[in-house]
Amino acid sequence: MISTRIISADEAGIAEAAALIRRGVPVAVPTETVYGLAGDATSGEAVAAIYAAKGRPSFNPLIVHVADLAMAEGLALFSPLARRLAEAFWPGPLTMVLPTGASARVASLVTAGLETIAVRAPAHPVMRALITSVGHPLAAPSANASGSISATRAEHAARSLDGKIELVLDGGATEVGIESTIVAVADGGLRLLRPGSVTVEMLELVAGMAVDTGDNGEIEAPGQMLSHYAPAKRVRLDADTAGADEFHIGFGPVAGRSSLSDRGNLAEAATRLFDMLHEADRSDAAAIAVAPIPRAGLGLAINDRLERAAAPRPPSDESETSPG
Ligand code: TXA
Ligand code: MG
Repeated sequence: MISTRIISADEAGIAEAAALIRRGVPVAVPTETVYGLAGDATSGEAVAAIYAAKGRPSFNPLIVHVADLAMAEGLALFSPLARRLAEAFWPGPLTMVLPTGASARVASLVTAGLETIAVRAPAHPVMRALITSVGHPLAAPSANASGSISATRAEHAARSLDGKIELVLDGGATEVGIESTIVAVADGGLRLLRPGSVTVEMLELVAGMAVDTGDNGEIEAPGQMLSHYAPAKRVRLDADTAGADEFHIGFGPVAGRSSLSDRGNLAEAATRLFDMLHEADRSDAAAIAVAPIPRAGLGLAINDRLERAAAPRPPSDESETSPG
């Protein structure tokens, strides 16, 4: 059992994290979306250590984080459309799934054998400093045990992965609060694999074409399995009122026990979402009820995460079926 330390993400902290990552040891680090468990994407052993710490099924591929478009072009094939999206939204919370480049030097474990690779250039200065310092692209899934809620604070990551990782770099609460938007760019078109704070409307404006939002029932991103982001407690959605045994999460006019945003602001709600689910999960209430959130813009991504939190759990060992 490793003892998990939280240290400040200052210059010394980043240097210590970079040294661990160079030795193949994954470190939890802040990004603008959620905390990630970062490892050297070019080292199979480092990537295996990420999977091991998370207890994640190895068929679920990881996002590779790069400093900029130039670094990404060493990993994936960029069409003119993909380049336009990178120029518009990077650095930032957009992940693109692209064909793997011929010279891609990432460990095959990262892509779990797929012929595509998920890449994103994060905006958070700590994650950017780490990529630059290590000098390699960093594979980083969300820094939580497989199947549980994503971490938006250093303490969430430390609690979820306690004894499984050595270090958490504390950069405070993350700004966006939900994971990046994932879009597959293929055959001149765009398919949304995971909604996020870069909305369909924003993508369509830059791309000048419609985004396929799919809902054909097929699982595109393996991580998009239904029971995901799961609190331990039962979750009920669209709840205007709650029972005495429920922790009521409010929004807008529905006050609840604690509110995602009492002024009904979706960006504020996204930032607080996982925090609030953690709080509700740790409370004395037996179950969780969540006020209705409008299903538009950023509200789509919030409802997507909530629906996964509320989905019926797999019957047996969750870690086998619910990547995180
Ligand atoms: O905001 C984020 O994206 C955070 C921060 C740390 O960057 N990362 C994150 O990673 O959410 P993770 O591993 O929890 O989610 C990555 C998702 C999974 O659903 C995975 O299946 C999907 O990306 N994915 C990765 N590579 C893929 C590929 N080649 N094709 C389709 N889906 C892919
Ligand atoms: Mg995750």
